[in-house]
Amino acid sequence: MDGNGRWARARGLPRTAGHREGAKAVRSVVEAAPDLGITTLTLYAFSADNWQRPAAEVRTLMELFERFLHSERDKCIDNGVLLNIIGRRDRFEPRLLRAIRRAEAATAGGRNLHLRIAVDYSARQALIDAAGLHQSPEPLDVDSYTELLNRAVNSRPAAPDVDLLIRTSGEQRLSDFLLWECAYAELSFTDCLWPDFDGAELERAVAEFHRRERRFGRVVEARELAS
Ligand code: FPP
Repeated sequence: MDGNGRWARARGLPRTAGHREGAKAVRSVVEAAPDLGITTLTLYAFSADNWQRPAAEVRTLMELFERFLHSERDKCIDNGVLLNIIGRRDRFEPRLLRAIRRAEAATAGGRNLHLRIAVDYSARQALIDAAGLHQSPEPLDVDSYTELLNRAVNSRPAAPDVDLLIRTSGEQRLSDFLLWECAYAELSFTDCLWPDFDGAELERAVAEFHRRERRFGRVVEARELAS
């Protein structure tokens, strides 16, 4: 969800104003997702490296996350959205941790959308943590490692591979996000700053995704192409 800072700067506002506006975009995108056939949506809200930002910005972001968990809980229940925070949990304030646990428990029955919000997330750390969870004498394979990775980041339920990765604000990097899960992800880049991103932007990206030919390393037979 990049571009909050630039959105604010363009209006002469502090960066935190951009983050507040960004939280509104989250609501719009979450509302639009199920009708677009999206069953799992992961939003990158705060990377493990984001702790290095100024303390006041980090505090505002943590407050925004906590407020979001309180304010959106009932709406998520009504709309069948299962809310799930993925990433590390040992560096949060106790009250944020309590809000996470409450929101996850309250929305656990959601069946329309698995909404994962990545907070204090690092894909590389997750890969290390998943390796540390491996105890079985059986050799690892893709499925068993994926399961460990889901456990390592507290993804409940486990999430499937990423089909479409959308990066906003003109950035074209992976930034330590879902490195394993994006093995065959289609990539979509937009100049749109996150606070301006909404359901209509998501629909455009999904429409473009459906026009892509996904081969997963195989050759597509002429017969298949014709059908
Ligand atoms: C990156 O853009 C954005 C973040 C580090 C924070 C994302 C947070 C939100 C969208 C708000 C709250 C989210 C929830 C789920 C309630 P940037 O700040 O680095 O922007 P810039 O690249 O323009 O400087």
